[in-house]
Amino acid sequence: MKVSVIGTGYVGLVTGTCLAETGNEVLCVDIDEVKVEKMQNGVVPIYEPHLDVLFERNIKAKRLKFTTSLEEGLEHGEIIFLALPTPEDEDGSADLKYILGVADDIGKLIKDYKVIVDKSTVPVGTSEKVKAAISKNTDVEFDVVSNPEFLREGFAVDDFLKPERIVVGSDSKKALSIMEKLYKPYVRSGNPIITMDEKSAELTKYAANSFLATKITFMNEIANFCEKVGADVDKVRIGMGTDSRIGKRFLFPGIGYGGSCFPKDVKALHKSGKDNNYDFKILDSVIEVNSKQKTILMPRIASYFNNDLRGKKIAVWGLAFKPETDDIREAPSLYMIDEMLKLGASITAFDPEAMPNVQRKLGSKISFANDMYSALEDADALLICTEWSIFRTPNFEKMRGKMKSSVIFDGRNLYDLEEINNEVQFYSSIGR
Ligand code: UDX
Repeated sequence: MKVSVIGTGYVGLVTGTCLAETGNEVLCVDIDEVKVEKMQNGVVPIYEPHLDVLFERNIKAKRLKFTTSLEEGLEHGEIIFLALPTPEDEDGSADLKYILGVADDIGKLIKDYKVIVDKSTVPVGTSEKVKAAISKNTDVEFDVVSNPEFLREGFAVDDFLKPERIVVGSDSKKALSIMEKLYKPYVRSGNPIITMDEKSAELTKYAANSFLATKITFMNEIANFCEKVGADVDKVRIGMGTDSRIGKRFLFPGIGYGGSCFPKDVKALHKSGKDNNYDFKILDSVIEVNSKQKTILMPRIASYFNNDLRGKKIAVWGLAFKPETDDIREAPSLYMIDEMLKLGASITAFDPEAMPNVQRKLGSKISFANDMYSALEDADALLICTEWSIFRTPNFEKMRGKMKSSVIFDGRNLYDLEEINNEVQFYSSIGR
C-alpha cells in the first residue's frame, strides 16, 4: 500500500520504517530540511535499537523515501499518518497546534479520498477537530482514524512489528477495512486489531499510560513505606506480582517515571478531566508523588555529607530517563544533578547513549567520562539514575580502586543487598 507519514520524530520514523519493512511504499514528510537531507543520505536521526538496520534496508529497496513537501506526501499516500508532536501546554493540556495546522493544509491540498490517521497522543475529541479543520477547506471525501501508538522507546521496532494489540478508532467502515489490511501482516500471531469509535481510541491511549504511571507510582509509595517499617520492597514486589491479576511488570520502584510520554499524558488526562468537569483525584496524586520521587535520594545524599557538597565529587551512572535510549526528557537524573549542583558538588557523569543530549543541555556545568569506571575517579560517591545493563555487574574491586570512598546511592535497585554490603562501605537504595 502507499503510505505517507507526516512528522519524523520517534513515532513517525519508527512507524514509517516498520511500515516499509512489510512492503509498503512509504514517504515520510518533515519540515526540517537538514533532517530530511540527512535521512535521504541514510542517516538515522535518533538512537533506537534495530532501527538503523531496517532503515538502511528499506531505503536501499526504495520503499522508504523522505521529503519536505506536504503536497508530495499527500499525493503519494492513500493513508496519511499524522505523527506530529503534541507538547505539553502551559496549563498541562496537549498543544494541538501542529496537528491542526497540518490538518488545515491537508484540506487545501487534498485531491482524492484519503484515510488520515492520527498517531499522535491527543485528547478525546481531537479527531473531530481534525475533521473540521480539513473539511473547512475542501469537499473531497476523507476519513479520520484514531490509531494511538503504544511504542516503548528502546523496544519501539519490536513493539511495532509484533504489537500486543492495535487500536483503531473510526466511524467509517471503509477506513477501518483499509487500516485492517495495512496492519494484517503485523498480527499474524493472532494478536487483535481492536476497532472502536474515535473517542474511545483516543482515551485508550491516555488510560493505558496513566494506568501504568499509576502502577509505578503506587510501587514507589510502597517502597517509601517499606523504609519506614523496615520491609524489603523487592520481596513485596515479588509477593504481589505473582498474582496474575497484578502481574510482574511495571512494579519496579525507583526515582520516578520520566520520558516523553508518561509525564505529559498523565497531566493531559488530568487537564482533560478538568475541562469536562471531572476531577481525576488519583492522577493529581500520581503527578505529585512522582515529582517528589525524582529527588527522593537527595535528603539522604545531603545528610550523608552534612548538607554540604562543596568540594565533593559525585559520579553519576545513567542520564537517560530509562535504558536503551538517548532520551533525557523529564529524566530523574537531571533533577538530581540540579539539586547536587545547588549544594556545591562537582559532577562527572557517564551514560552509554545520552551524554551528547545532556551536554547540549547542561554545557560545562558537569563533566562527562568516556566509560563508567573513569567517571568514578576520586569520587566521594556514586549515584545511579538509569538501569543500563552494563551497570548491573560491575567490577567492584576496580570501583573501590578508583573511588575516594565506596559510597553508592542507587536510584534503580540494581544490586542484591547482601552482596553489595560486602563490596562497598555505604549503600542506599529505594525501599529496602
Ligand atoms: C511509554 C509506554 O510504555 C508506551 O506504551 C507509550 O506508547 C509511550 O510511553 P516509554 O516512555 O518509552 O513508553 O517508557 P516505559 O518503558 O513505559 O517507561 C516509562 C517510565 O517508567 C520510565 O521512566 C521508567 O524508568 C519508568 N518505570 C517503568 C519504572 O520506574 N518502573 C517500572 O517498573 C517500569
